Amino acid sequence: MTVLNVILFLSFWKRWKPSDFGQPAPLHQVVKAVNNRTSGCVDLVWNFGSVTPFPYVWLRDSCLCPDCFHPTTLSRSLRIDQLQVDIEPQSVQNDSAAQQLVVTWPDGHVSRYPHQWLRERSFAKRDVKARRKQLDGPKTVLWDRATMDRHLLHVDYDRLVGGDLATLHDALHHLIVYGLVLVRKAPTDFGAVEEIGETLGHVRPTHYGKTFRVASKVDANNLAYTANELAPHMDLTYYEYMPGVQMLHCISQHIGDGGESIFSDSFHVAEVIRARRPDLFHLLATVPFEFADIGEEAESRSRCRFHKIHERTMFCIDEDGNITQVATNNPVRSYRLNVPLELVKPMYEGLRMFNDLCRHPDNQLTFKMDNGDVAVFNNRRVTHGRLGFTVTEDSQRTLEGGYVDWDDIMCRYRIVTDLLRERP
Ligand SMILES: [Fe+2]
Ligand SMILES: [Zn+2]
Repeated sequence: MTVLNVILFLSFWKRWKPSDFGQPAPLHQVVKAVNNRTSGCVDLVWNFGSVTPFPYVWLRDSCLCPDCFHPTTLSRSLRIDQLQVDIEPQSVQNDSAAQQLVVTWPDGHVSRYPHQWLRERSFAKRDVKARRKQLDGPKTVLWDRATMDRHLLHVDYDRLVGGDLATLHDALHHLIVYGLVLVRKAPTDFGAVEEIGETLGHVRPTHYGKTFRVASKVDANNLAYTANELAPHMDLTYYEYMPGVQMLHCISQHIGDGGESIFSDSFHVAEVIRARRPDLFHLLATVPFEFADIGEEAESRSRCRFHKIHERTMFCIDEDGNITQVATNNPVRSYRLNVPLELVKPMYEGLRMFNDLCRHPDNQLTFKMDNGDVAVFNNRRVTHGRLGFTVTEDSQRTLEGGYVDWDDIMCRYRIVTDLLRERP
């Protein structure tokens, strides 16, 4: 367990033990509760003037009593088969002294809901939209090279893994907003990636092991293990659940020309394509490429054969048209292109345009990592690659890499944000 994990574990207990899940600061109060049998809702009239309806079935489902809500697991124990969908309350009362809505059900069961708790779960369209937006965390900022030259965050390895919450918060925040952070002064041994991964979330194993080593190998089973140039790409596009974040630790850098790392913001590039060639943007957002990785990993502890295949569009967009994920990887792009004949050439046009924009000097960030540098980047957004180099006897370029998923990173971000907010 890392130092940070101990801090987070202790703070978890400090946070949750005394909680009764219902007594936060009284920001909003209900002045009147109206049982509206026509709409099947309890309408709450608030002290700030608005009226918000809460459906009967939702209220019954959301009872916070110890029979319906398990107090130590902090989860619902009421089962759906115990829920009557067309239930109606026997009576509804506003307990303004306790700042609670009190609902009595036909079987005598009584549910009490703190006003503020209900306020935070309102069904008003604006509130629902704001809550969903909040789930994504801070807003992303698209970048080109000039922007990233100004905003690339460098964090000190010891501070990051040593439990400094402000450093961890900065790193996580930048990772969410820009998708790229550089950790510096890590020890030049294998293992630093695992430490960083367990600090940001949890290391996610793949068929290349818990972490993987990048050095040129004879009979390489992955192009990364050669000295060739690697075009901008995302890793593991053949996994349905493509890793969220990648860490690449430079243990020993190639001496001499070549070996520079390259990064670009594919969300920015995709927006350029959308503006200049909406037809290609639409194609890349709707027609999939297939990706495959087939071979054997002798160095992983489990010495496994792998045969991964997944089909996905290069761009994923949400219901509002925002880009949520980009995936491309030329070496593992399958030779099977499962598309109508007339789309073949435009698909290549799209691939080419995407690649050329990522490589354009205005968009591409290029720097040679020093020994002890660890690039941490959003593997679903920021393309990475490297310039080719020549392996010599006295120069061996060695990196260690690993992955962390966004679920764990966002989880840690929320906890660290709360801890810093609660600091005296
Ligand atoms: Fe890669
Ligand atoms: Zn109950």
